[in-house]
Amino acid sequence: MSGSRKGAVYSTERFAGTLNAPHRSFLWSVGLDLSDIGKPLAGVVVAWSESGPCNFHTLNLIGYVKQGLRDSGCVGLAMPTIVVNDNISMGTAGMRYSLVSREVIADSVEAQIVAHAYDGFVAVGGCDKTQPGLMMAMARINRPSIYMYGGSAEPGFIGEKKFTIEDVHEYVGAYITGKVSEQELLQVELIAHPTYGACAGLFTANTMALLSEGLGLALLGSSSPTATSARRAIYAYETGKALGQLFENDIKPRDILKYETFRNAATLLMASGGSTNGILHLLALAYEAGVKFTLDDIDEVSRKTPYILNMRPAGEYVMMDLDRVGGAPLLLKKLLDAGLLEGSVLTVSGKTLAQSLREYRLPNVPHDYIVKDPSRPIKKTGGIRILRGSLAPEGAVVKTAATGVTRFEGAARVFDDEEPAFEAIRRGDVREGEVLVIRYVGPKGAPGMPEMLRVTAALSGAGLGESVAMVTDGRFSGATKGIMVGHVSPEAVAGGPIAFVEDGDRILIDTEAGRLDLLVPKEELERRKSVLRLKPPKATSGLLAKYASLVASASVGAVTLPRL
Ligand code: FES
Repeated sequence: MSGSRKGAVYSTERFAGTLNAPHRSFLWSVGLDLSDIGKPLAGVVVAWSESGPCNFHTLNLIGYVKQGLRDSGCVGLAMPTIVVNDNISMGTAGMRYSLVSREVIADSVEAQIVAHAYDGFVAVGGCDKTQPGLMMAMARINRPSIYMYGGSAEPGFIGEKKFTIEDVHEYVGAYITGKVSEQELLQVELIAHPTYGACAGLFTANTMALLSEGLGLALLGSSSPTATSARRAIYAYETGKALGQLFENDIKPRDILKYETFRNAATLLMASGGSTNGILHLLALAYEAGVKFTLDDIDEVSRKTPYILNMRPAGEYVMMDLDRVGGAPLLLKKLLDAGLLEGSVLTVSGKTLAQSLREYRLPNVPHDYIVKDPSRPIKKTGGIRILRGSLAPEGAVVKTAATGVTRFEGAARVFDDEEPAFEAIRRGDVREGEVLVIRYVGPKGAPGMPEMLRVTAALSGAGLGESVAMVTDGRFSGATKGIMVGHVSPEAVAGGPIAFVEDGDRILIDTEAGRLDLLVPKEELERRKSVLRLKPPKATSGLLAKYASLVASASVGAVTLPRL
């Protein structure tokens, strides 16, 4: 039997030696031979599903990853994890499983990697929750591991005009309010997402993909090639190969995921105007990595980070366009040069972020139309702001990049779920100046903190995107535009102030001051608290009920906490 190579810690214990004959015997049945024993055994964890385009193609990448592993002296065996497709679940009861799936993915990877004594793994994600779920598993298990994004889709075109899935949602809003015909809606529906791969704009999937590079968990440049690009295969191979180096140098995720790393990632998130979900996922990842990184840290980063990326939904371009000018490395380099990043943190390349960026060759093409210089930003502060106040004592988030409005005061229209709010827009029963309050849709209450894209897109489509605000303990899709405040904590089901809002109450949103206030006298709020009975979580059995019993507040990333 061959000697053990550096990094083959767990597999050697499980498979080497005479008494491990029964374990080893199963390896011969899946194609390994004696010379493989003692080499690092790597999982190739692929979030794969034909339920939607985002992870449709990820199985095709396995061979390249395994070849890279082989060429660096490792053995790779593939395994799947689940996908809940956000767009297909959106606006339905199915959306309640989306954030839940992040935890299921992290748990399923832990179970497979630890049970089968893998020394580490390559993780390949796509749709929104697969990415943080896989990265959380990396941090939790803390064996050498590396992330790779499966890539996003190409945009669709009608003539010169570019379309993404966000347009289909907005066209529905325009259709129900009589602004476009059924034929026009159908035309956009048919072309908006023309290839496999994740959503094309800077929605949650592409946000998390950029962050995978900012966190140092993925190879530089690996997030921006489309799913259809030939460079996907090259990155898959190089990613497999890089894991061999991580084994060799015994570099684990927690060597990479330090406090400064999270600040860097938050800086990238703010500079790019990415999805508000990025906040939830960064907090959850910090929890898994054992790093104290809070909403206050994110707030501080947001106040000093210029917003510089012109991508949809707030801007004009999609991931394919960013790829042409240099992808995440271009953004990171600009931020590093502006003194906004800590360059000394380690990355999966085995080098520091600063060193990796120095060695990365950026294309020499004009890029100012999509990536601005931090000295001439789109906005002086970050694309997402943290709000606090009497309506959100533990915090709330708003994507300032996606609205020109910085202060909004209006009368509350209260809904205890998403559907009645959507119906009100559909009936034309929502007026300018109102604040739609959608509650009991938080992590515990919904359960699963669904995204409100159906409602926010309907508002945009109805032309109310800048004149009606929304406040919710639920989440928003990365494609959301408008004055939309989410993650309101504590959530309604936990007795947060949002549970006690009544129709007509005045609500103040001030993104510059970082305030979200319910303008109701304290005594009146106390009176309401003494008479109102909170509603329980909406699930009483199955996965959602289990989740509701374990999930923590959105203000700490909606992680599930063991009850021992
Ligand atoms: Fe999968 Fe957008 S729905 S990435």
